[in-house]
Amino acid sequence: MSILSSNTIQEITKLKSRYPDDRQKSALLPALHLAQAEQGWLPVQAMDEVAEVLDIQPIEVYEVATFYTMFHVKKVGKFVIEVCRTGPCCTVGAEEFVQYMEEKLNIKVGETTEDGLITLKTVECLAACGTGPVLQIGPEYIYQENMTKKKFDDLIEELKIKGLKDV
Ligand code: FES
Repeated sequence: MSILSSNTIQEITKLKSRYPDDRQKSALLPALHLAQAEQGWLPVQAMDEVAEVLDIQPIEVYEVATFYTMFHVKKVGKFVIEVCRTGPCCTVGAEEFVQYMEEKLNIKVGETTEDGLITLKTVECLAACGTGPVLQIGPEYIYQENMTKKKFDDLIEELKIKGLKDV
């Protein structure tokens, strides 16, 4: 049985039709976004189904999904906090800040809190280099700049409340 809904498969098929027969791989990024939006992450079965619809090899899908940090190949929490760990942010304390986040959430980078609420990831430059440390919170990709411990503590409280409201 298919893991992706017929609607998502239809949408991916539509994307595929925009490209010539030997170039259908060009639809891969938007196809993965659709699959992830539906599933919340990219289980292997979903990636295999994307490969089947696009008529490419599953390995071609895995390569792309594991390369870009915006794709989650492991189940993630309700909110995904992605913190920039590139040079300019490191000069204003990003590494120490990541350590603080890990301690506060009681998880390591790449893990999800026990209650399934928050996943912590590090990513490359978020294009806000003058206002680091910077992070974005998915699924809506809301930016938080000039992060401090206090701002992070407040953010976690907000996410806890939001998480409860959305149940
Ligand atoms: Fe962190 Fe650019 S280096 S946003």
